[in-house]
Amino acid sequence: MKAQHVRTIARLLAMGAGSDHVDVSTSGLGRSLGMSQQAASRHLVDLADEGLVERAPGGRSVRVTPLGISEVERLHAELGAGLGRARRVDLAGSLVSGMGEGAYYMSLGGYTGQFREKLGYVPYPGTLNVRLDGPGRRAAPLLAGLPSTHIDGFSDGSRTFGPVSCLAAETAGIRSHLVLPERTHHDGSVIEIIAPVCLREEASLSDGSRVEVRVLP
Ligand code: CDP
Repeated sequence: MKAQHVRTIARLLAMGAGSDHVDVSTSGLGRSLGMSQQAASRHLVDLADEGLVERAPGGRSVRVTPLGISEVERLHAELGAGLGRARRVDLAGSLVSGMGEGAYYMSLGGYTGQFREKLGYVPYPGTLNVRLDGPGRRAAPLLAGLPSTHIDGFSDGSRTFGPVSCLAAETAGIRSHLVLPERTHHDGSVIEIIAPVCLREEASLSDGSRVEVRVLP
């Protein structure tokens, strides 16, 4: 499909021409696309020549063909993949210690089995806590819109452990995941990271070190 036809076909789909024939006046179509009636008419002829739309005899009634729809879908997927990359979120902050709870939670079988299955590794026992800097805190709300891996909550009979979302990331360049509790209220100023390795050792980090976290779409 030619670039100049993309908006025209999108407009036709918005008019319902993806599922049925609809009556289209070339002047109305042109107006809605900011082009002349002649240009809109030309677009319909070109699109029909390429088999992307079909016009009933008489010309007013137009439908986008299955080929037209699949072309738009292909373009949509390409754009989506490109935009996903543009939405990559870079965070930074300083390494802080918590209360040693991460090692406990991350070692629970109810979580480790799912980590192995869904993330492909059993995390080093613990979470690396990063207190985000100002720009990082402002970017943190963007995390909610990124694709993530859902880890189910579970119960061990006496306690329940909540579901978490894992976002693929690179921490100090090392493959890792951001772990976000799905239920607990979280102000987002400290993020927690799991990785197959001990990040303090691998990246020579200690409390106060600056840590850069690239969240991958
Ligand atoms: O609560 P706190 O952060 O102090 O500890 P933890 O979550 O139980 O994790 C144990 C230690 O391992 C902490 O010092 C973490 O910063 C560190 N850690 C790490 O270096 N790399 C990981 N992939 C996970 C935790």
